[in-house]
Parts: sequence; C-alpha cells; structure tokens
Amino acid sequence: MKKKLIIAIDGYSSCGKSTFAKAIAKELNYLYIDSGAMYRTVTLYCMRRGFISHDKLDIQGILNELKDIVIEFVYNPDIAEYETFLNSENVENEIRGIEVSKHVSRISQISEVRSRMVELQRQIGMFKGIVMDGRDIGTVVFPDAELKIFMTASVEIRAKRRYDEMKNKGIDVDFEEIRRNIIARDITDENRDISPLRRADDAIILDNSKMTVQEQMIWVHSIIEKKINGS
Ligand code: DC
Repeated sequence: MKKKLIIAIDGYSSCGKSTFAKAIAKELNYLYIDSGAMYRTVTLYCMRRGFISHDKLDIQGILNELKDIVIEFVYNPDIAEYETFLNSENVENEIRGIEVSKHVSRISQISEVRSRMVELQRQIGMFKGIVMDGRDIGTVVFPDAELKIFMTASVEIRAKRRYDEMKNKGIDVDFEEIRRNIIARDITDENRDISPLRRADDAIILDNSKMTVQEQMIWVHSIIEKKINGS
C-alpha cells in the first residue's frame, strides 16, 4: 500500500491555497480540509448570536457556546466538492461573504477558539491522507506533516482573484474594499499573539503570482512523489 501523507498548506489569504490544495487532494484521492472555513463558520455563528460589534466582542458569550457549534464538511455530488455546514445548515456561501471576512481575524485570535479548532483538525487528520490549508497547519496543527508548503502572491493579484471569485458567484463587491481587507488581514494574521502566520522552518515556499494551477501541479508533482517513495 502507498504511504499516506499529511500535506500542510499555509500562507496569506486569497493566494490560491484552497484551489491548489483541492487539486492535490483530487490527484491523490485525499481528503481536503479548509481550516479557514472552520474559523469563518465560528465567526458567522458569533455574528448571528450578536457576539460581535464593531468595537468589541462578547468573549464570555462566545466561550459559553463554543461547544454548541458543530462544523461539518458534507460532500455535494452535484458540484463534486465538500461544503461547510453549521449545525446542519449549509453555510458555504455565507461564510465567504465580506461581512464574515471583516470579522474573522478577530474571532481567530481567541485562544479557546483556536484550541478547539486545532483539536478538531487533528481528529480529522488522524488517519493521514489529507491536505489541509490554513495559517498554522505546518507550525501548530501538524508540525510533523510530511510535506509543508508556504504560499504567497502579490496583494494586487490576490485581490483580483478574490474579486473574480466573488463576482462569479454573483456577489456584488468593490475591488478596493477587498484589497483593503486583504492587507488588513495580512497584518492581523502575521502579528497576532497566538499562532501568527509564519513559515515553518521546513516548509517549501511557493510564490504563485505568475503561475497557473497547472504549473503549480507540475511543480508539486515530483516533490510529492519523493515524499511518498521516501527518498
Ligand atoms: O483562508 P481564509 O481566508 O478563508 O481564512 C479566514 C481567516 O481565518 C483568516 O483571516 C485567518 C483565519 N485562519 C486562521 O487563523 N488559522 C487557520 N488555520 C486558517 C484561517
């Protein structure tokens, strides 16, 4: 039987981590988990419960209800992709909206939220054969992952990609607002006290500013082969 890997993909927001991670998972027939979707889902729950206002968070309220937040990834055969569910409701589109994007960095700074998500992520990855993307997958969640990739791309390109993605979904967005949101999230992601975004020492850097997904797949193919064959 072929050796199964844990593949950790970290990096800045909107640099194509999930597209790349999904393509790898498909090729290897691995499970793909979008850890950002988990933080987004907790954020949506908190928004709906009124725990988030523009200048403060109701931390006690959030902690009291953390155990009530059930996150699942359910396969949708019509689109051949997993979708995110919050307490049995499909929230896949809602968690990608700008409102959730605006608040998610604050929610993902709460240490109890992070501990809970890391626990769930480790459970999901227990049997390996998984590609997980996020900010702290190679550093905190799976420090022993067999393959770690750290992705980056220019701000302009990332903003354009997110803009196109949302437009394609029929969501009305402003390019400048998206660009500012990306810059703001980079700053909070890199500077937060707990699990800040940083490259693991043993992660390979991939700057995909000028690469297509196909080119990225060609790049990663031989790296994966070596890992699987143990050379
Ligand atoms: O990958 P994304 O943009 O959907 O992630 C949403 C937010 O969640 C991002 O601003 C940072 C946070 N996040 C995190 O703190 N740790 C992770 N492993 C994944 C995402």
